[in-house]
Amino acid sequence: MRWLYGRRVGRWCSLCFSRKISYGGPAQGRPQLFTTPIFYVNAAPHLGHVYSAVLADTLHRYTALRGGESRLNTGTDEHGIKVQQAAAALGSTPTELCSRVSQQFRTMFDAMGISYTDFVRTTEPRHSRAVCHFWKRLEEQGYIYKGTYQGWYCTSDEAFLSEEQTTESKDPDGNKIRVSVESGHQVHWMSEENYMFRLSSLRPELLKWLQTDPIHPAPFLRIVRKWLEEELPDLSVSRHSSRVSWGIPVPSDPTHTIYVWLDALINYLTVANYPDPAGSPWGPSTHLLGKDILRFHAVYWPAFLLAAGLPPPAKLFVHSHWTCQGVKMSKSLLNVIDPAECIKLYGRDGFRYFLLRNGSPERDCDFNHDAVRMLLKSDLADALGGLLNRSTALNINPEQCWPCFRTTNVPLTSRGQLEDLLGALQGLPQQVDQYMDTFQVHKALEAIDGGVRSSNTFLQRQAPWKLSKGSEEDKAWGQCVLYLTLEALRLYGTLLQPAVPGLAQTILSRLGVGNDDRTLKGNRFFAATRGEECRFRGQKLGLDCGLLYHRLRGQEDPELKKDITQHESGSTFN
Ligand code: MSP
Repeated sequence: MRWLYGRRVGRWCSLCFSRKISYGGPAQGRPQLFTTPIFYVNAAPHLGHVYSAVLADTLHRYTALRGGESRLNTGTDEHGIKVQQAAAALGSTPTELCSRVSQQFRTMFDAMGISYTDFVRTTEPRHSRAVCHFWKRLEEQGYIYKGTYQGWYCTSDEAFLSEEQTTESKDPDGNKIRVSVESGHQVHWMSEENYMFRLSSLRPELLKWLQTDPIHPAPFLRIVRKWLEEELPDLSVSRHSSRVSWGIPVPSDPTHTIYVWLDALINYLTVANYPDPAGSPWGPSTHLLGKDILRFHAVYWPAFLLAAGLPPPAKLFVHSHWTCQGVKMSKSLLNVIDPAECIKLYGRDGFRYFLLRNGSPERDCDFNHDAVRMLLKSDLADALGGLLNRSTALNINPEQCWPCFRTTNVPLTSRGQLEDLLGALQGLPQQVDQYMDTFQVHKALEAIDGGVRSSNTFLQRQAPWKLSKGSEEDKAWGQCVLYLTLEALRLYGTLLQPAVPGLAQTILSRLGVGNDDRTLKGNRFFAATRGEECRFRGQKLGLDCGLLYHRLRGQEDPELKKDITQHESGSTFN
């Protein structure tokens, strides 16, 4: 068979390349826009979906914590053959299926504390309006033509694939089939007249965009650069409606349905009120996405935007996948981790903490309950919870007030240790800032945990419970040690708010820190050690919150489940 991939049969028309499009970060005065991918409604939410959303939520909350204006958009991807087939298999209509599963995503995101600004469904009228407008714009700019697409198509992934992206395999009956190298799903040869997008013509502009370093972590940027060095055929952007009817019809030709990925990507414009210019917060966005949908976001999406005369994404933050016992999660393997079950077991914040601290964008991570229990016990129950309980306990702080720190009360013999502690902690906000800006949330949490452990060592070595029984100098130094520990906890509580809002709130409330003092903007830490005002001195601590995080004794322990449920409904988890 002669090999033809994405062959162009259409007539080339002249294009206007003289555009002025800005590349790079969000424009001055505009809010930061974070997005999650929009989720397919052909399956219930699972751990992988929740991970994308928790990462995006953490960055969105962090931007607000720094005093910036931020928006977080999410939603559901409801068109395409997969939904059409899933609904048919269930004996339901696509509309019913979409509404039911979309609501499941909303409920799950609410349970996970995802503080989204907007939730878009691609079946909403505002979305089809945006898609139709965008399509017409591409047509006007000369980027759409009628042609014949011949090549491989993977229905499960709704993706067009080149020869190199496919390989031979066998189905369960031993028959030879062709599959996608990346997903392993079967592909079919397709030859169809449909509408094509002049992707090939945009290669120079895409390469220019890549120079702005928009993709993190770096290995994914290298992958995209390699893709752009290879063949970049034009892209089929419609399917005949006899094959795919569940979608948005091509405005000028209802016998064709707009390709589901073009439809889906435009959700990022819909939530920005596109095409209404008035009050639209559209500007370069930061898109969070899993590595499986990198090509759609790093090649097709910027190309569509550039063709329509709009700025390409500011940043693509790409994450790897969660596996279960080393195997990709899949419904057929019955190894899908249910996030609702994890919330029950570990609490919303425990679960969020595990995903953020143990997930790494650069490599796949394995999910297992032993690892969750170990991490939560070590970091949250023992290190952070222990530090809070020991430094606020009645026997060590009978007045339940912030003590006083004076540099003159630091004994010569302890100066070295104090300097070590401050050396480790004073740079923490900047360090966290850098990690968040470069999509290394796990490293930010690791750095905070490192601080917590330094504080524990310091407290243990200085032992204020012993100093309080010694000379006047010892007592004064004991007060300084306590002050430093509370101040360090105030820093950790403040920095942890985006990742674990409920636990952070408990810490800050126990310290008696008011709502106005919980932001990072203008908030100074350890100022008293630099001879400045000793903030909070004499101020009352908040009410005793009990254990910050319950020790996890075993997954099947019914008492534990009961404890966590009670804890969640109480003040600890908001
Ligand atoms: N509908 C498309 C996205 C369109 S965006 C314009 C889609 N949906 S999805 O529901 O299949 O996936 C949504 C997100 O979940 C993707 O970022 C994907 O990478 C992520 N995950 C799905 N399974 C995952 C894991 N096992 N682990 C981590 N995240 C993974 O793709």
